[in-house]
Formats: sequence, C-alpha cells, structure tokens
Amino acid sequence: MPIESSPSAPRPRVLSGIQPTADSFHLGNYLGALRQWVALQDTHDAFYCIVDLHAITMEHDPQTLRRRTRVAAAQLFAIGLDPERSTVFVQSQVPEHAELQWVLSCLTGFGEASRMTQFKDKSAKQGTSAASVGLFTYPILQAADILLYQADQVPVGEDQRQHLELTRTLAQRFNHRFGETFVAPEAYIPKATAKITDLQEPTAKMSKSSSSPQGILDLLDEPGSVRKKIMRAVTDTGTEIKADEVNKPGVTNLLRIHSALSGTSVEDLERRFEGQGYGALKKELAQIVLDTFEPIRERTAKLLADEGELDRMLMVGADRAREVARQTMGTVRDRVGFLGRD
Ligand code: AMP
Ligand code: TRP
Repeated sequence: MPIESSPSAPRPRVLSGIQPTADSFHLGNYLGALRQWVALQDTHDAFYCIVDLHAITMEHDPQTLRRRTRVAAAQLFAIGLDPERSTVFVQSQVPEHAELQWVLSCLTGFGEASRMTQFKDKSAKQGTSAASVGLFTYPILQAADILLYQADQVPVGEDQRQHLELTRTLAQRFNHRFGETFVAPEAYIPKATAKITDLQEPTAKMSKSSSSPQGILDLLDEPGSVRKKIMRAVTDTGTEIKADEVNKPGVTNLLRIHSALSGTSVEDLERRFEGQGYGALKKELAQIVLDTFEPIRERTAKLLADEGELDRMLMVGADRAREVARQTMGTVRDRVGFLGRD
C-alpha cells in the first residue's frame, strides 16, 4: 500500500496499460484512455503500466521497442501523470505479470480464448497460422496485469471491453476454485470518448494500424501537420454542422473531439456553428488540439533529453509495483498449492 492512502479510508484502485508500439500516442489513446488516467490519480490509488510484454506479441525490433518504451514513458509523464501520486512502470520489470499469466492461462478455456475479437482481427491480418501463441494468450496476460494489483477499475477505450469481461470471469473462476483472492474489476469507459474515429475514414476507430497516417492525430505531430490533417479531415455531404453518427460520422467525430477538449457540449457547439461551414469548425478545432498537444510535445522532448532520469523514475515505479505484485503472487502461489519460495 502506498503511504498516501490511509487505512481507514482506502482509495479505490485503478490500473491500466498501454503498449509501446508506436512513436507517439494518438488522440484516440489520449481521449479514450490517457486523459482519464491523469484525472483518476486525484481520487484513486493509481497504477499505470507500459506493457512491453504485450508489445512483443507481434514481430518487433529490439532497438525500436526500447526507444518506444522510453517515448511512451516520457509522454505519460508529459500529459500529467505525477510519479508521486501514480505508480508508472514497465511491465517487464515486474516478473510477477508473466508468472500470474501462466496460472491464469491454465484456467482459461481454449474456446474462450479463441472468441476474443482482437485476436481474431490481428491474426486474420497476418494469416492465422502465422500468429504467435503469445498473441493468442495476450488477453490472459492483460488479466494478470489487472488482477495482480487488485484493481477496482480499469480506464480504457471501448475496444477493450471484451478483454475486461474475460478478466472478470477469470477472477471469479479463480476465487470459486481456490478461495476469495481477486477483486473482479469494472471497466471505466466514458461514453463520449470511448471511440474516436479516423479523420480519413470516420466510421473506423483511430488506430495506429490505420491505412493512412493522415487519419491519425499523433500527440507528437508537428503543429503544421496537425493543422493540415484536421483541415483535410473527411466531412460529409451537406453543409450543416450537426452530430449524426449514421449520416454524418465525420462531422460528429470532429464535434466530439472539440467537445471533449473544450468542455463545451456538442449541442452548444451545434448552436454556435449554425450557418457556418465545416471550415470554421475545423479551424477552431485545430487550434484547440494544438493548445493541448503543444505543451505535451515540449515536455516529452525535455524528459527524453535525460534518459538516465527517465529510467530512474521508471525503476521507482517498478519497485512500488513489485511490492504489491509480490504480495498478490504469494497468496496465489499458496492457494494454487505451490511450495513456498522464501
Ligand atoms: P492501444 O493503442 O490499442 O494500445 O490502446 C491504448 C488505449 O487507448 C486503450 O485503452 C484503448 O482502448 C484506447 N484507444 C485506442 N484507440 C482508441 C480510439 N480510437 N478511441 C478511444 N480509445 C482508444
Ligand atoms: N490491451 C490493451 C490495449 O490494447 C493494453 C493493456 C495491456 C491493458 N494490459 C492492460 C489495458 C491492463 C488495461 C489494463 O490497449
């Protein structure tokens, strides 16, 4: 238990994770998940994990992974995670994740794992027989990440809902077989930003695996590039600025992004932009996005300039995380029937 949380009123715990598989996080990550991470550190006992074990489920280059792990960490601190209030750490520096994953994989049905849609999507892309066993067991490792910390809530985007349901199922199954051990966590998915869509293909989610970089707004994009991508965003036929997910997915996405960043409701925006063209909305939105991204980009660069200090911050996080993980794993080992270790 971190020293801040008083035993009389323990704060609920959150845990979330993000993969270091891109050179920058994008606006979907930021609005769908990361912004909530920052807010929750004020009210919760927060654990946030850069999931490099998950990142090797797809073919990877070691140098690139190391670089992206640091870039991910720098962005997390740059968006406002405070190492005093949040435990920010790298998954592979806490060996208990892989250890618990093994135990949970022995409780997961083959058919159950086969139904995970993210696995089906990702493996279909490379041909199912070429997909690794690690990609198949990916959601079980994710369950281990969450259960090790006894998290009450898990802030993520909509695409993670199925993995969280599996996590709850595994927690309950373990508890049922071996005695009350794990908290069954809840997903924390604010509706308005659960799925930010691609600027070029507004019916698909904004994703690093998208077909064109023009559809993704990266936190670390140059300002000129951010402006260009927003001004060229695909809008819909007609001229009216109105949220209508079915007939106007492009404009709806832009309104949602504006609303999430400006705090103005979508209805108020519709009223304010009445009679104006898409260009006016886009121009204002570009400025709002840049006002958010620019300070983050600057702070990220500063943090990356001192790798030694960044690595040290991550080690502090890993030490704190390990204390909790070791305790849970001790109970798990005992419940499952393994001999003691120390
Ligand atoms: P990923 O980049 O897939 O590792 O996702 C990291 C986090 O961002 C997860 O919580 C996702 O659910 C969330 N996320 C990713 N893309 C989007 C999106 N387009 N809209 C909302 N949330 C997203
Ligand atoms: N699978 C998540 C994603 O693609 C990343 C992740 C790994 C995660 N472990 C986690 C998210 C634990 C929440 C909690 O975004």
